[in-house]
Amino acid sequence: MMKILHLSDLHVEPVGKLAYARANTARRMIELTEWLAQHKDEYDAIAVSGDLSCDGNIDSYHLIDAIFRSLPKPCFMVPGNHDRRKPFLECLSHFCPNVYSPENLSFSVDLGDYRLFMLDTLQPGIHWGALPDGVLDWLEAEMKNTNKPSLVFCHHTPVKPGMGYMDEPFGNGDRFIEILSQRPDVRLCTGHLHRPVATLAKNKVVVVTAPSVSLQMLLDLTPKGGDEFVFETPGYAVHTFLDDGWVTHFGQFPFPSDFSGPYPFVNTINPDA
Ligand SMILES: [Fe+2]
Ligand SMILES: [Fe+2]
Repeated sequence: MMKILHLSDLHVEPVGKLAYARANTARRMIELTEWLAQHKDEYDAIAVSGDLSCDGNIDSYHLIDAIFRSLPKPCFMVPGNHDRRKPFLECLSHFCPNVYSPENLSFSVDLGDYRLFMLDTLQPGIHWGALPDGVLDWLEAEMKNTNKPSLVFCHHTPVKPGMGYMDEPFGNGDRFIEILSQRPDVRLCTGHLHRPVATLAKNKVVVVTAPSVSLQMLLDLTPKGGDEFVFETPGYAVHTFLDDGWVTHFGQFPFPSDFSGPYPFVNTINPDA
């Protein structure tokens, strides 16, 4: 039984700098490293769905590389809106093999009887995501070329979650969902929302969102929601394919969490904005 550990929204800052002046995400990486080593028999591969860095600085990518390179299991990554493609690719290219292009780091990889699609939805200077037509042409062709049950990972979620500021557009979202809907054995797995969320996009495609490893979004389903974080318990998702199809479980990390907040996401909504 293949188990894919899904991590998201690490928002790593270099040692000595706090994310949003409050969150020690460099220390969180030490806690994460220990947990990943202790639990290495509970997952077969890791997929990280973006916002690895808080502002795309190269030191944060060196830190991430050191952590994930030491693990005995394969690991795959795509950028989010807080990442920068150039330093991401410079430091982490071994976690994103055979990318579509240097301008879009999408790729696919086979894991035994299953396939992972890792899609790059980053638009520099823009908070919300998009997939270019060329990438969707490639995705459509790749999906027609395999019968393997597939997980599709990307940072942004092509569904408005009812969380105020996070109710954003998704460029080419309708076409993206239409392509995924052609296959019943495909699940879309995202991040960006910093909470575990599940929905059925356009009543066609199951979408599940992993919580953040570092900062949880305040659960505020009003027009002013979606822009503050709280130190709730961080978490992860595990996707596995069983007799009835893909099943997603959510787990919590036993890292110190004092439930303080909410605090604003300030200054680094997008590093190129
Ligand atoms: Fe994020
Ligand atoms: Fe994000």
